[in-house]
Amino acid sequence: KGDDRVKISVIGCGYLGAVHAASMAELGHDVIGFDVDEAKIRSLSAGEAPFFEPGLPEILKSATASGRLRFTSDVTELKGAKVHFLAVGTPQKAGEYAADLTYVDLAVESLIPQLSEGDLLVGKSTVPVGTAARLAARIDASGSGALLAWNPEFLREGFAVKDTISPDRLVYGIPEGERGLVAKALLDEIYATALSNDTPLVVTDYATAELVKVSANAFLATKISFINAMAEIAEVTGADVTQLADAIGFDARIGRRFLNAGVGFGGGCLPKDIRAFSARAEELGRGESVAFLKEVDAINLRRRQRAVDLVVESLGGQVYQKKIAVLGLAFKPDSDDIRDSPALDVAVQLHGLGAEVVATDPEAIANSARKHPQLSFTETVEDALHGAEAVVVVTEWKEFRELDPVAAKALVANAIVIDGRNCLDAEAWRAAGWTYRGMGRP
Ligand code: UGA
Repeated sequence: KGDDRVKISVIGCGYLGAVHAASMAELGHDVIGFDVDEAKIRSLSAGEAPFFEPGLPEILKSATASGRLRFTSDVTELKGAKVHFLAVGTPQKAGEYAADLTYVDLAVESLIPQLSEGDLLVGKSTVPVGTAARLAARIDASGSGALLAWNPEFLREGFAVKDTISPDRLVYGIPEGERGLVAKALLDEIYATALSNDTPLVVTDYATAELVKVSANAFLATKISFINAMAEIAEVTGADVTQLADAIGFDARIGRRFLNAGVGFGGGCLPKDIRAFSARAEELGRGESVAFLKEVDAINLRRRQRAVDLVVESLGGQVYQKKIAVLGLAFKPDSDDIRDSPALDVAVQLHGLGAEVVATDPEAIANSARKHPQLSFTETVEDALHGAEAVVVVTEWKEFRELDPVAAKALVANAIVIDGRNCLDAEAWRAAGWTYRGMGRP
């Protein structure tokens, strides 16, 4: 094919954009990634991932070496690409629930002068419903003759490359009529590999596409908070929430996935997305329709507190100057992401109570130390455990799940373990002489 291949640009090379750019190049497309952050561009250009994501370094290296993938901080270099993916962040506004669309608007404004007749701008960022229609009007008003589609992303951190290359489903939000068909044809060409593998495709309007994304995350967050609410009830009745989850999960209508009770959900998506959804629903006069999301958020935040309370309780009511080993900092395993991390929050709260917190994590120490230099970190689990009066597991990394309770007991001062993720074999730990406390378990 060579030169008549569709050229792709990706605007924003954070988590979503960097993975998307590299994955599209891996699929054989010609890709240019753009970001205003020059340090990030330098690292990506050298084939180095600026964050930890399994599989990403390999495809970044091969695609940059082959010339199919380049990166730039000069927006004029995006001219000439036919399809432009918008992958900038939409963080929570400071002190508010609503999403901050500054980066989206800045990206669109800087892109408009680079667009030619028939180009397609494809939104991937998670945005409040109504944003795509507003941006489409802006693009029309610019007279560039470009089109807009909304194509939400459902990748999970830790599985980002796999989820991008072979997604569970594709959703295209496109304009009505002929313009929509043109947009769809371009997207079909880009996603030809996934489509040829029978990936389900939902073609819809902008509003539905935007809502699919936020409602999917709202549903997942609700599922997690549901099981955590059951954990709270289990705690006052002596029931075991892990068995409860197994039992209800056998009903295929419910399903066992995302029913793991523990310190709750964190990360750069679920927490801010349910808050932004609440804020948007209120703007639309339908706040009551998603009022339950406030409860979902509240239940979720209570579980971090519960883990802290369990540590304090296990140590007789106070942790002042006691060494506590905190195993985990990332918001989930296989990630170095500490955005809204329950694990890091537990470490910070224990430190705030005067405990001598020593935290460890296979990938997230550097990010944590930058944000919370007051905490102590150690590279090895052994150093964290050494002389600890209590151990709290808050991210279920394989390294922690597979700890040998007998060997671990020899290192600590007190054999007390708080399993904030219900990821340890309670029986094995108890058999080794530990006082084991799970979340929502006797
Ligand atoms: C989430 C969604 O799962 C993706 O589909 C979506 O694309 C993404 O947000 C996004 O909007 O970009 P992610 O944030 O990577 O993906 O992580 P999840 O695997 O959803 O986990 C979120 C949090 O929930 C983690 O803190 C995890 O520990 C917690 N969790 C998950 C539980 O506490 N219990 C569970 O049973 C499952």
